[in-house]
Amino acid sequence: MSRLAIGRHPVVMGRVYDYRKYADSLRERFKEAGVARSPVQKKLQLARAYFSGNPVWCSWQVNYRCNFRCRFCNYWIDPMGDRPELSPGEFHLGARKLAELGTLLISLSGGEPLIRLDIVDIVRAVGRWHFPFITTNGWFVTRELAEELFAAGLWGVSISIDYADAERHDRRRGMPGAFQRALAAIEHFTRARRYKWQRVNWMAVLMEDNFDQIEPMLKMAAEREAYFMVQPYGVRKTGNRRYVAGDRGVSQHLLTLRQRYRNFLSNPYFLSRVDQALNGGVPGCRAGRGFFNIDSTGDIAACVEQRDRPVANLLEHSPPGILRALRRDATPRRCTACWYNCRGEIESLYDPLGVMQSLPTLLLDRGRAPTLATRE
Ligand SMILES: C[S@@+](CC[C@H](N)C(=O)[O-])C[C@H]1O[C@@H](n2cnc3c(N)ncnc32)[C@H](O)[C@@H]1O
Ligand code: SF4
Ligand code: SF4
Repeated sequence: MSRLAIGRHPVVMGRVYDYRKYADSLRERFKEAGVARSPVQKKLQLARAYFSGNPVWCSWQVNYRCNFRCRFCNYWIDPMGDRPELSPGEFHLGARKLAELGTLLISLSGGEPLIRLDIVDIVRAVGRWHFPFITTNGWFVTRELAEELFAAGLWGVSISIDYADAERHDRRRGMPGAFQRALAAIEHFTRARRYKWQRVNWMAVLMEDNFDQIEPMLKMAAEREAYFMVQPYGVRKTGNRRYVAGDRGVSQHLLTLRQRYRNFLSNPYFLSRVDQALNGGVPGCRAGRGFFNIDSTGDIAACVEQRDRPVANLLEHSPPGILRALRRDATPRRCTACWYNCRGEIESLYDPLGVMQSLPTLLLDRGRAPTLATRE
């Protein structure tokens, strides 16, 4: 590029520019794109959100379409699957808007999020200001896609596997080959990590028949440098109580395993309340205050199970307006219907001991799980 300054007017490619106009247009373009935050800035902005009493976690459903037929989830027949989904440009605009409230831990989920061919662009857009995570059934993961997602700034990924036994997992997920593809997905992501903070996580739903599978799954995850998390089956998705886990001694068993296995990431605060969750529910839900949900259409609700009662829309309302609507909706909240990870892990941040136990997970760049699983 030839560049010749004439007084205050630079000549760029033969065109004369006015400095002020040039600077204004640059500023506008910067504002339009939104200046990205560094990992340290994101952590500070996350702390700002927390100390201002703003939500710190957002579940953002990128779709409701799914290639699986899981028995315990009905998203694959959800009519929302036919509604138009937000574009990457709208994710960009929405994420920039949310950045005014601080930085959020954003779980990109669905449906099956990797069905979307533009998922890498979505991750890149969200990752400019926030910490993007993905939860996936693992089916569509290839080495290339794992590399692209981590290169785009994905902070962490959870691959859902509910049994250590291929046949049982495939049957419950209604998809032959699901187990092998999910294991391969964990391996692809583990190899594709490029920054030390990028985390690969094995995510299991605790159901009526997989209590004995937790320990073998922990071991298999550790062998693949993956962390492990678990959440109890919630009845809201299907209305069916058939898959609810047994209700006694679950917490103690999980806490004992957590003591033994260094890759067991679930917070002790969360695990210690699983029994209560299975015996009538944990009160004091912070949906709408500590965390909230955005649908594939941009509608905002307290949590994914309240999505038929949206309180605002990401593209239509201002950040303070969204916050006000969520707060209005949150008091009082008596629902005790779930003890999902997003709920329990975030609520642990509002408990003095829970927050101390969460800090290493949140602040340390410990993406690679310890391969030597046990503490013994
Ligand atoms: C709804 S899925 C969407 C992402 C992706 N399709 C998957 O299965 O990982 C998000 C997480 O919720 C879990 N899940 C699905 N139905 C559930 C239920 N009824 N109770 C608790 N967790 C459930 C899934 O196993 C997964 O870890
Ligand atoms: S749990 Fe995930 S993979 Fe299974 S039907 Fe629901 S969205 Fe699909
Ligand atoms: S307990 Fe809270 S997060 Fe769970 S379904 Fe009810 S309102 Fe939603």
